[in-house]
Amino acid sequence: MHKKLQNFISNNQPAIENQLNQLLETLNVSETLKSSMSYSVSAGGKRIRPLLVLAAVEDLGVKSIDALTVACAVELIHTYSLIHDDLPCMDDDDYRRGKLTNHKVYGEAVAVLAGDALQTLAFEALTTLQETSPKDALQLVKMLARAAGAAGMVGGQMLDVEGENKSLSLMEMETVHVNKTGALLSFCIEAGAVLAGIELEKAANLKAFAWNIGLAFQIQDDILDITSTTEALGKTAGSDISSDKSTYPSLLGLEGARKRLSEHHHLAEEALGFLEKDEPLLKLFADYIVNRQS
Ligand code: IPE
Ligand code: IPE
Ligand code: MG
Ligand code: MG
Ligand code: MG
Repeated sequence: MHKKLQNFISNNQPAIENQLNQLLETLNVSETLKSSMSYSVSAGGKRIRPLLVLAAVEDLGVKSIDALTVACAVELIHTYSLIHDDLPCMDDDDYRRGKLTNHKVYGEAVAVLAGDALQTLAFEALTTLQETSPKDALQLVKMLARAAGAAGMVGGQMLDVEGENKSLSLMEMETVHVNKTGALLSFCIEAGAVLAGIELEKAANLKAFAWNIGLAFQIQDDILDITSTTEALGKTAGSDISSDKSTYPSLLGLEGARKRLSEHHHLAEEALGFLEKDEPLLKLFADYIVNRQS
């Protein structure tokens, strides 16, 4: 990993962990529910989404005390999506983030409820923004709801389920990935723009970057599912084959998938030209996302 990105991550990750822990610690609820929520939140995710929010804000040249709260909100949504994604009725996986999946430890009912509670906690966190104007705060709530819901992640998960046991066209495949994974990643970048006071209509380049890394992220995830091991990934390798999922490698072959990955990587980097920076953090993140091994 590039030294500058490594430094950025080690400088910012402790604050993310701290804030996530605080959000959970203050909950005065069933110990089992709280323990199940913390189990998945603190299981050791890479924190790519919250770090992307902070990186976007930094690349756009602003400081925002609210960026950390937005960053944690999206990580809570992401963690909930993983708990539900692993359930027996979904991908039926036993390992996540190097540990047993939530339902394997707490049972399905608690895992479903922990996911639900993490989702609502994310939106509650967004009501505590301090410097952001009420108009921008509402805009962020709307953007996160859209990115997480039927028009985004949940809609993409639906298409993913419907894509089992059949072959999709490349365009259909792209729609699955852009929604199930790209929507939340795009939220991270676009939220950075809102926090930086940039109108989204004027952020076409940033949106193009986000769209391409969202897609690239899931293509690399599909590639790793067949080329890596459960141990290296910290989650069940070969899961897509077991559930006969439609993936980029199943559609285009491994080499075809790698070629598409590198095309989207290139388009993402090209879109960052407007920042007029030698080494934007977002470029380093794009490199990391396509080259990551877990
Ligand atoms: C995994 O996301 C789920 C996908 C959207 C492909 P990550 O690879 O970011 O998982 P964690 O957060 O590090 O566990
Ligand atoms: C799921 O995609 C993306 C989510 C919305 C959770 P995958 O099912 O490929 O994610 P992994 O491989 O289990 O992390
Ligand atoms: Mg899935
Ligand atoms: Mg899965
Ligand atoms: Mg996967």
